[in-house]
Amino acid sequence: MSVSRSSLPAIAGGTPVRAKPLPFFRAAVDESDVAAVAETLRSGWLTSGPKAVELEKRLGDYLGTSHTIAVSSCSEAMFLCMKALGVGPGDEVITSPITFASTVHAILHNGATPVLADIESDTFGVDPAAVRACVSPRTKAIMPVHFGGQACRIEEILALADPAGIPVVEDAAHSFGARVHGRLLGGFGRATAFSFYATKNLTTAEGGAITTGDEVLAQRLRLLGYHGMSRDSWSRYSDKGSWYYQVQIPGYKCNLSDLHAALGLTQLSKIDHLLERRRAVADALARALEGCAAVELPREYPGNRHTWHLYVIRVRPEALRIGRDEFIQALRAENVGTSVHFIPIHRHPFFAPYLRPGRTFPVADDYYARCISLPIFPDMTDDDVRDVGDAVTRIAEHFRAG
Ligand SMILES: Cc1ncc(COP(=O)(O)O)c(C=O)c1O
Repeated sequence: MSVSRSSLPAIAGGTPVRAKPLPFFRAAVDESDVAAVAETLRSGWLTSGPKAVELEKRLGDYLGTSHTIAVSSCSEAMFLCMKALGVGPGDEVITSPITFASTVHAILHNGATPVLADIESDTFGVDPAAVRACVSPRTKAIMPVHFGGQACRIEEILALADPAGIPVVEDAAHSFGARVHGRLLGGFGRATAFSFYATKNLTTAEGGAITTGDEVLAQRLRLLGYHGMSRDSWSRYSDKGSWYYQVQIPGYKCNLSDLHAALGLTQLSKIDHLLERRRAVADALARALEGCAAVELPREYPGNRHTWHLYVIRVRPEALRIGRDEFIQALRAENVGTSVHFIPIHRHPFFAPYLRPGRTFPVADDYYARCISLPIFPDMTDDDVRDVGDAVTRIAEHFRAG
């Protein structure tokens, strides 16, 4: 509820735009989700079973992918893809500096070396030219990130990777439902990893999925993701008499439970509505902020269909007397929640020993210095959007340079 439209920002002694905090994110969960999870609890089968199988089928139907494997997280999905492709010590995997740590962990856990390619400032995904410059005889895979709900320039990345025989594994954690020239993500590279974490476009609370058109890879992913066993517990239980299984390789445990899958099924049944709502909120935020010269607004790259998982503005330092961090503090004083996606990989001291020395990432660094993720979620109201617009505008005006 808005309490004051006066122009003095709360951090400078004014009354906050909102009396109650607007969270950065709120999950879009309704009674159909609650009922589906309760029904699964009552069914007596809680772990991976009929709901996980159904979710895989329905995800494949939606995305148009031939093999869809539900897993416990996108982090595990990327780890399994690296493992299944034989990524190991001595290999290099090219990825983005603007990503969550687990993209790089998936490479490190397999003993390989992450090689960062700078981003470009339209999609915030890796710049295809920077990727090309990183390719070496040791490049075993490329793992681009579809950042914030929109595809990176995946067609250009595939055009350089395919002739070189380098598999592309896409981190589409943010971008379920995103399209490039009308085609949904999930069917571009050798494999695509999605996240169904609580904040994502489609959630199972925790979870994820891998899609691939490669049957041999799909079989290996299933084997690796379930203890290296030839049969999972549901197929042993449902196939009466087939209690027998063989351990074929040392595997991991990355299956998605039916409790999570039940939530995924109801979420998937309304995904188009959820994505439409995100788009409507993004459009409304753009209208509320279009007159504010001190911030740069996110754009949809030509040919892309954005899913607006994130709404990232970039402050213009030349237009302001405060920096990004102070801007965030001022938004917090207005009771507007924000986040920063992400601290670049090369800015974490931990990763330094694993990265090629002496390399710089000017576009990623400029992005990081200026980015603020504003609230965006399907249930955001017109009043919420107006409050965000008012808060950003009053801060920008009060701290205007010159
Ligand atoms: C870009 C990116 N990749 C991967 C992940 C990991 O997803 P999960 O939490 O499902 O493991 C995240 C999580 O937020 C992410 O932001």
